[in-house]
Amino acid sequence: MTLRTVIRGVGSYLPARIVTNAELAAKVDTTDEWITERTGIRERHVAADGEFTSDLAIAAAERALKAGGIDGSQLDLIVVATATPDNTFPATAAKVQARLARPGVPSFDIQAVCSGFVYALATVDNFVRAGQAKTALVIGAETFSRILDWNDRTTCVLFGDGAGAVVVTAEQGSGTGSDRGILSTHLHSDGRQHDMLLVDGGPSTTQTTGHVRMKGKEVFRHAVVNLAEAVNEALAANSLTSQDLDWLVPHQANRRILDSTAQKLGIDPAKVVVTVDRHANTSAASIPLALDAAVSDGRIKPGHLVLMEAMGGGFTWGSALARM
Ligand code: ACO
Repeated sequence: MTLRTVIRGVGSYLPARIVTNAELAAKVDTTDEWITERTGIRERHVAADGEFTSDLAIAAAERALKAGGIDGSQLDLIVVATATPDNTFPATAAKVQARLARPGVPSFDIQAVCSGFVYALATVDNFVRAGQAKTALVIGAETFSRILDWNDRTTCVLFGDGAGAVVVTAEQGSGTGSDRGILSTHLHSDGRQHDMLLVDGGPSTTQTTGHVRMKGKEVFRHAVVNLAEAVNEALAANSLTSQDLDWLVPHQANRRILDSTAQKLGIDPAKVVVTVDRHANTSAASIPLALDAAVSDGRIKPGHLVLMEAMGGGFTWGSALARM
């Protein structure tokens, strides 16, 4: 027998305001055609004034709890992946805990930028399998609109705001690949690539929040290589081939990265969940947002084998394989 971390409910939240490419083209020197062709992005959601990462996180988490039929009082761990916390400290997760869980329940943030959700899921899986948590919330939530330089056309067109969440419970499994739950996680980082994608501010350096800066071409090149390696690593560790996957739920950075990764791995594009056209890159929120989209519309069903993979600033990258 093996303890498994089973995904019981998935939920997400997107701010009401939608910003189209045409709207951006009215502000910076870009066009709908350029953005669509190079990235696949058509629109993104942007948080309202006074709407914070914690608000998005709580809304997504409430929906995940409802979908899983789980009450907040049952939670014994909350982890929020975010690179855009409400405050430098305390953790955004503490606000989620105050709203949804019993006093005293541990909560903390994880910072791995676009890989944050995979890092958070891996962390919670380890808590569960060590017997230290039975019912947990794993949330990815971001307000990247707040750290964009809206005059920099090379970055401001790429990102959006949103949140996604899963509620997981500890269940006994047989220890085989037919178990429901998380079957494997793999995490990596390479800090030598720190300056390829970063926010040029912070409490210890500039005492400002800073803005996203990116060497797009280099990031693209590393993303395709690292993501293909992450998928192959997960498949090999589970003695699977790409044909065994029901769904690939990748971090949504750029349609061309999704297509290149799928092509490189021989994965049928119809098995790749794509939301980047409507959400843009929502960093740590993008995987649970995509997962929720495909669960809600009935594509992802109980028993399906789902591989999640991501890469982001750091660089960080990794995967999580789960049977729903
Ligand atoms: N509108 C119009 N023109 C633009 C825009 C824009 N929004 N942005 C850049 N350009 C121009 C450039 O200035 C350049 O002009 P030049 O040739 O006169 O110098 C030209 O378009 C080509 O620019 P490139 O950077 O070479 O364009 P590229 O084809 O590499 O696409 C992009 C840029 C979309 C950023 C791509 O490199 C990319 O997607 N990289 C991955 C980055 C990413 O997704 N990061 C997210 C976080 S990491 C992650 O999640 C994996």
